[in-house]
Amino acid sequence: MRKSEREAFLYEVLGNEQPPAHLARAVIEEKLRSAILDGRLPSGTALRQQELATLFGVSRMPVREALRQLEAQTLVRVELHKGAVVAPLITEDAVEAYALRILFESEALRLSVPLLDAEDFAKARACIEALEEETDYSRIGTLNRMFHMHLYAKAPNKRLMRLVEAGLNEEERFLRFNLSSMGLGKLAQDDHWEMLQLAEARDIDSIVAALHNHLNRAVQAITRYLASKAAETKPKRQRKKSPA
Ligand code: NI
Repeated sequence: MRKSEREAFLYEVLGNEQPPAHLARAVIEEKLRSAILDGRLPSGTALRQQELATLFGVSRMPVREALRQLEAQTLVRVELHKGAVVAPLITEDAVEAYALRILFESEALRLSVPLLDAEDFAKARACIEALEEETDYSRIGTLNRMFHMHLYAKAPNKRLMRLVEAGLNEEERFLRFNLSSMGLGKLAQDDHWEMLQLAEARDIDSIVAALHNHLNRAVQAITRYLASKAAETKPKRQRKKSPA
């Protein structure tokens, strides 16, 4: 995309509301986040500091800060020679990403579950119940993230929770676009109900095992999805080798 086209595109997606200086970082971050999450800014879109600063009538500083926040949330990544771009939906390293999530989230469960109270359980239950009815993929992604976060609500380690949230955000974004192809709905809901029961019973070992199953199911679905994508993009017919 040429510069003028890119500017017109960003204007169309983000508008050009000029935020007051003290709110600039927060406003820009929120506008970019929602446009990335709902797909108006597709993966790979370049996010140049100067262009965004001009669009919003601010200096580059709040733009740089907003991009840094989004990078921490894995929505943006900085690429060599290109600068900040909208991060891919899910990467080849999804299996590694889920392996780390299992580590972080198992620990978050161990820390949080013994401390959860009736209100936390009620909030988690409300999310699962809403998931039974919900048909909008972007809401399903959000409710899934919220359910899991309610189970981790009492984990006191803030750094751990930032890592946990980054993993859940990444999954939420993927689910918005690919939930139907993952075919996870019913099975994932059975897991959610089981995890809620185990949390209420404070059965830590069993809930950690249930989380492993839940996330491994997602890994398998994503692996199948990525394999099917790879097959789609391959040329239909490979050139035949000379006859043997
Ligand atoms: Ni889930």
